[in-house]
Amino acid sequence: MKYQDLIAEAMKAKEFAYAPYSHFRVGAALLTESGRIYTGCNVENASFSATNCAERTAVFTAVAQGEKEFRAIAVNGDTENYLPPCGVCRQVLAEFCDLETFQVILANNEQDYRVVTLAQLLPGAFQSKDLVVNDTNKSTVVD
Ligand code: THU
Repeated sequence: MKYQDLIAEAMKAKEFAYAPYSHFRVGAALLTESGRIYTGCNVENASFSATNCAERTAVFTAVAQGEKEFRAIAVNGDTENYLPPCGVCRQVLAEFCDLETFQVILANNEQDYRVVTLAQLLPGAFQSKDLVVNDTNKSTVVD
């Protein structure tokens, strides 16, 4: 799989963006370990906080199809600069992806892109391994 192929899929997915409020279209293409590609676009809502980003749409679509191991994601917008995934999307990616090896391809187009790891975008990510409670650190609210 070439970066260019994943970028092309993200650019195609952007065409489906539902962004009547921001007019800011985003497309994403997620590559699974099994070699499949799941795409996503941003889906906005009149209640703005209900909006879903392109990256999360792609991840949730893949998970809903039984895929949970991912290699890379390409992200494309209509921006002049590389479009970085928002913090919530970084956190969602961190749930499923190896921080050090998962590649985020920030793509303006097939020729102009930058590749970074998830660890670079989200250092010190909160993950399931951090959900371990140490009894001695518990504060007592009621005796
Ligand atoms: N958006 C994405 O889809 N991905 C990002 O990484 C950044 C933001 C969307 C959400 C919203 O529909 C619009 O872009 C403006 O924030």
